[in-house]
Amino acid sequence: MDKGIILAGGSGTRLYPLSRVASKQLQAIYDKPMVYYPLSTLMLAGIRRLCVISTPHDLPRFEDLMGDGRQWGIELTYRAQPEPRGIAQAFLIAEDFIAGDPVCLILGDNLFYGRSEISNYCRGFSSGGLIFAYRVRDPERYGVVEFDRDGRVLSIEEKPRQPRSSYAIPGIYLFDGQVTEICRGLRPSARGELEITDVQKVYLSHNQLRVAPLGRGTAWLDTGTTSALQEASNFVAILEKRQGSKVGCPEEVAARMGFIGLDQFDALVAAMPDCEYSAYLKDIGQEMRHVRPAPPTGAGPV
Ligand code: TTP
Repeated sequence: MDKGIILAGGSGTRLYPLSRVASKQLQAIYDKPMVYYPLSTLMLAGIRRLCVISTPHDLPRFEDLMGDGRQWGIELTYRAQPEPRGIAQAFLIAEDFIAGDPVCLILGDNLFYGRSEISNYCRGFSSGGLIFAYRVRDPERYGVVEFDRDGRVLSIEEKPRQPRSSYAIPGIYLFDGQVTEICRGLRPSARGELEITDVQKVYLSHNQLRVAPLGRGTAWLDTGTTSALQEASNFVAILEKRQGSKVGCPEEVAARMGFIGLDQFDALVAAMPDCEYSAYLKDIGQEMRHVRPAPPTGAGPV
């Protein structure tokens, strides 16, 4: 699949008064705007055509920040969600963008870090629906999926008081082109939203929903509250300081994925102010120029 949607609207009430200053997904997670993280997740999965959805008020800020994506070798388009009427509404807003193709929807406030599990599922995806399952201590805060040993989905519930499993459904969902038609048939829930869990239930009723448990090698953080925001920042800071590598840096991902050439990468970095971010990218550029090509499989160390 090569299409993705980043849903970055919502009301951000839990972040008040920060959300009065800037949209939740533009707040800092350590050293970058939050939206860079889900964007990088999709780019690492090889997804290059992206639609960003936010409120009419905030959308221009996202456009300012990320433009048409050409600088990162991707295509970005923007659509407004006038009112937060549910995650599933994204598929209706982006209907012309989806145009019957499979699409990956990621929530703009979800941060994933870890091995390539998600990328592999995105690359291998062709039909039906695919959700992930992630073990958490407080499943009642999320959509919860119950599944058997063979990975068959038994039930899906939105924020259940008494969860039937410890597996939350993280904010990244893969659906085929049927999704817009399915969303058109949905009724808003009691809270007035088109629920993403209802989309999943329709796929489930057609026997077309798969669930992929994410192992503990993948970290999933959401960032909806001020303390979650702080924890996500700490998480990224610790990794970056220890490893000397940045997490969720679209310039680096674009270069490593081969979406842009090294000359374009250097020009991008040259246009940045002198700062820690650009100094890091300069080092990465030099490193990429000097790394010798990997030996053919089977060859010994070089
Ligand atoms: P939530 O965290 O459920 O809601 P919120 O961002 O509005 O925050 P709060 O609960 O503090 O008011 O939303 C999850 C993600 O989905 C978040 O990135 C915002 C996005 N979203 C939309 O863009 N549109 C919507 O209609 C909804 C419900 C969520």
